[in-house]
Amino acid sequence: METTIMCFLYYLFIAIFHFFGNSVYAIESPKYIVIQTELDFEIRLYNESSWISATSSSGTNSFEQSTKTGFHRLYQYIRGANLNSSKLAITAPILTRIPSTISSEVSYSVRMYVSPHFQGKPPQSNPELKLQLEKWKTQCIAVRKFNGYAKDDNINKEFEALVSSLNKHLDGTSTMMQDTSSYTIAQYNASFRNTERVNEVWINVSGFRTDC
Ligand SMILES: *[C@@H]1O[C@H](CO)[C@@H](O)[C@H](O)[C@H]1NC(C)=O
Ligand SMILES: *[C@@H]1O[C@H](CO)[C@@H](O)[C@H](O)[C@H]1NC(C)=O
Ligand SMILES: *[C@@H]1O[C@H](CO)[C@@H](O)[C@H](O)[C@H]1NC(C)=O
Ligand SMILES: *[C@@H]1O[C@H](CO)[C@@H](O)[C@H](O)[C@H]1NC(C)=O
Repeated sequence: METTIMCFLYYLFIAIFHFFGNSVYAIESPKYIVIQTELDFEIRLYNESSWISATSSSGTNSFEQSTKTGFHRLYQYIRGANLNSSKLAITAPILTRIPSTISSEVSYSVRMYVSPHFQGKPPQSNPELKLQLEKWKTQCIAVRKFNGYAKDDNINKEFEALVSSLNKHLDGTSTMMQDTSSYTIAQYNASFRNTERVNEVWINVSGFRTDC
């Protein structure tokens, strides 16, 4: 048991070091353009993209815990726990999908953008990691930024603030929030960074253009 925990912490430390350390390599992120900017949010159009996703087993109800364990599974995949034993570069942000109400049927899941080199042909994950490959279509996303640590006790407030701003701006137009049974938190920095942390809350929206 102790060995497992040590091993987990070791991986997490190494992963985070790679992820956000002073690497000479630029960390890749999914490509988008900003199509609308408001005071406290923006609308981005993301290009189609491939993601690898770790869904939590049912019963989990902590964003922080789900993110840690999901990230650990994704990290094993990119370090070679896939059917091709391929090593993939780490990317940012790490996304965590969160059910917006306790009664929601949606489960927590953690996602990582597949590094550009493997976008068209991501390797299958080792079955015991229970990861899913996802192909996202072009998608419009409303994004609100917030600083500090994303935590169990502050993320819902950020989600509600974004919903409230969107309700004001989308009122009377043909644009809409696609689904509010869940929302997504995007994290860009390692946990040891305690200043200038960047996080975002994401909600899928539609009706802004013909393509999203
Ligand atoms: C969008 O993705 C497609 C295929 O995945 C790629 O060919 C195209 O260059 C990308 N466009 C941008 C702006 O990144
Ligand atoms: C993974 O291996 C299979 C079988 O050898 C091969 O067909 C496929 O192209 C490989 N995929 C990648 C992403 O390298
Ligand atoms: C947002 O859009 C993407 C791409 O279409 C989709 O895969 C994802 O499931 C959507 N997320 C939510 C929370 O609806
Ligand atoms: C956190 O991530 C953001 C976005 O990638 C970056 O601009 C910022 O410099 C990072 N903060 C630190 C302290 O590394």
